[in-house]
Amino acid sequence: MSLLLQTPAAALSRLHRALRPGTPSPLLGATVLITGASSGIGEATAHAVAERGAHVLLVARRGDELARVCAEIAARGGRASAYPLDLTDGEAVDALVEQLLSEHGAVDYLVNNAGRSIRRSLDLSYDRFHDFERLMAVNFFGPVRLTMGLLPAMREQKFGHVVNIVTWGNQIKAPKFAAYIAAKSALDVFGRIMGREAFFDNVTCTNVRVSLVATDMIGPTDAYQDRRAETPEHCAGRIVRGLEDRPITVNGFVGSISEVFNLLAPRLSDFVFAEMSRRMPDSAAARGETRLER
Ligand SMILES: NC(=O)c1ccc[n+]([C@@H]2O[C@H](COP(=O)([O-])OP(=O)(O)OC[C@H]3O[C@@H](n4cnc5c(N)ncnc54)[C@H](OP(=O)(O)O)[C@@H]3O)[C@@H](O)[C@H]2O)c1
Repeated sequence: MSLLLQTPAAALSRLHRALRPGTPSPLLGATVLITGASSGIGEATAHAVAERGAHVLLVARRGDELARVCAEIAARGGRASAYPLDLTDGEAVDALVEQLLSEHGAVDYLVNNAGRSIRRSLDLSYDRFHDFERLMAVNFFGPVRLTMGLLPAMREQKFGHVVNIVTWGNQIKAPKFAAYIAAKSALDVFGRIMGREAFFDNVTCTNVRVSLVATDMIGPTDAYQDRRAETPEHCAGRIVRGLEDRPITVNGFVGSISEVFNLLAPRLSDFVFAEMSRRMPDSAAARGETRLER
């Protein structure tokens, strides 16, 4: 099944590397831009990509954390450069695109990883339209603006690959995540259509539907305290696979089962998720009783 989701060239390339151990990754010598590289999944992905010989361009707001990640990569013999940026600042995104194109020419791979999540029921959101606006700003408009800025040079050089870090929620459609999943679904669809329009220029997109990962992001959510979560390093391994093989999507088992359930029995799945949502109320943070959910 996963073979059907890959480009034929990527499938052949992985087969070639499997048959000839020591064959380098396609990332060797490539320029890979990773947003949200100052912590969590983005930081782990930056290390994994640098280990494969890519020049990693790190983007996030916290310049001090980016400098730390850069130094750690350099200490292991890798190559990384830091570009502090707030993705919700459109003019700053445009300026970064200009700087990147003049310093590196086309970026070969772009990982749209930066993002934030809010778990809050609609019942608590009637006077919080800003939740929807800020999640669209960071999870959709920022990455779309960055992608659109870098896309022409990718198409010009007849190679480029964009990996969108989205969520298994796109498949599950989990209650209490309307603002977050709507924004991530928009990015998922944007990437898919971009891949179709740029198909003949060899520019592709992979949507990685990430499940629960133990990072700062899930900290404030009480409902996740007892859940088993993947490590950022394990998740980074799947993202690297998405970069190297360029499949249409990288999905997990639970997300895929939920997607099929939603398709085959939509009303029954509504009942099941409504019941689960009733059993897992909003956290104290979402109710505003402790610090806000990020
Ligand atoms: N953890 C999970 O269970 C999970 C599940 C599904 C999907 N995801 C997705 O995985 C991605 C990475 O999240 P994570 O779990 O690794 O959490 P994290 O450690 O909180 O990482 C979020 C990253 O996004 C950056 N960021 C946030 N707002 C930004 C902005 N306005 N401009 C630039 N960078 C910004 C943060 O850096 P600065 O604060 O330095 O800007 C940070 O590097 C997110 O897109 C998230 O939606 C996570």
